[in-house]
Amino acid sequence: MSGNALPGGFDLAHWSEQRLARIERALAGWVVADAPAGLGEAMRYAVLDGGKRLRPLLVLAACEAVHGNEMAALRAACAVELIHAYSLVHDDMPCMDNDVLRRGKPTVHVKFGQAQALLAGDSLQALAFELLAPDDAAIPAAVQAALCRLLARSAGHAGMAGGQAIDLASVGRTLGEAQLREMHRRKTGSLLQASVMMGVACGGAGARAQAALADYGAALGLAFQVVDDMLDVTADSATLGKTAGKDAAHEKPTYVSVLGLQGSATFARELLDQALKALAASGLPDTRALHALATMVVNRDN
Ligand code: IPE
Ligand code: IPE
Ligand code: MG
Ligand code: MG
Ligand code: MG
Repeated sequence: MSGNALPGGFDLAHWSEQRLARIERALAGWVVADAPAGLGEAMRYAVLDGGKRLRPLLVLAACEAVHGNEMAALRAACAVELIHAYSLVHDDMPCMDNDVLRRGKPTVHVKFGQAQALLAGDSLQALAFELLAPDDAAIPAAVQAALCRLLARSAGHAGMAGGQAIDLASVGRTLGEAQLREMHRRKTGSLLQASVMMGVACGGAGARAQAALADYGAALGLAFQVVDDMLDVTADSATLGKTAGKDAAHEKPTYVSVLGLQGSATFARELLDQALKALAASGLPDTRALHALATMVVNRDN
């Protein structure tokens, strides 16, 4: 049996359906339109109606694996998606990747202007942390603090923003595999790993399960960006909902530029195997959703 066959006939589409509906409802309720001067409209445009919602699903799956607090996990799921959406708004701006298409729609700065895009990103980032610190007692203060800490670390200089800085500084340069791995680990892997660990923080996993899920998140996070690099070459813009072929056009170092397409595919499968081995080592009784999500990350077509 291949290492990534789905256990017990687990149906990811079925598992995801209700959870995605909860996530969409919560996001639509929390990202309100009444921010001044059209800012709310830009925020809602950036977040709602699109995206695979992989990060929120990882939060919920990890929380379920450790029987955590579902209220806390829903807030964490939405918070991480808000950070992700903000990162996409800024990533697409002319000062970064200068992209005009995202999630099948014109990018936020194309639709609302650069200043509004900048502010929408800023506001989404702030709102993410507001969600994690509700002023009722439903989420214990220590859990709120742990969630804020995990999200802040993964979004800032040690994670996504730091990785984006490396990405921009690497245009036109040839990176070695180790440097590329470090860039991808920060810019994309970090927030995906944090999604898993935020789900874990909603419950009470032991040290062994925590370490194993951190390994799972790291492998899945890197695999995600390896596949993103591959899809930029192999998929079309309509399927991706974003402009295909732009990494080579912008002279970005990617896994495809360093390992080639075949080498990248092999590496992605190795990372999937690592992720699944980590799940097996967690000792948790039911990690089927996490297993299926990792498999989907590597086999996806958008
Ligand atoms: C795209 O992420 C940006 C990267 C981190 C590579 P996703 O592929 O998860 O984008 P959405 O959320 O589905 O639009
Ligand atoms: C972006 O990486 C990672 C972020 C932190 C947003 P990419 O620049 O490769 O993402 P896409 O391909 O535009 O979605
Ligand atoms: Mg980029
Ligand atoms: Mg980009
Ligand atoms: Mg990309």
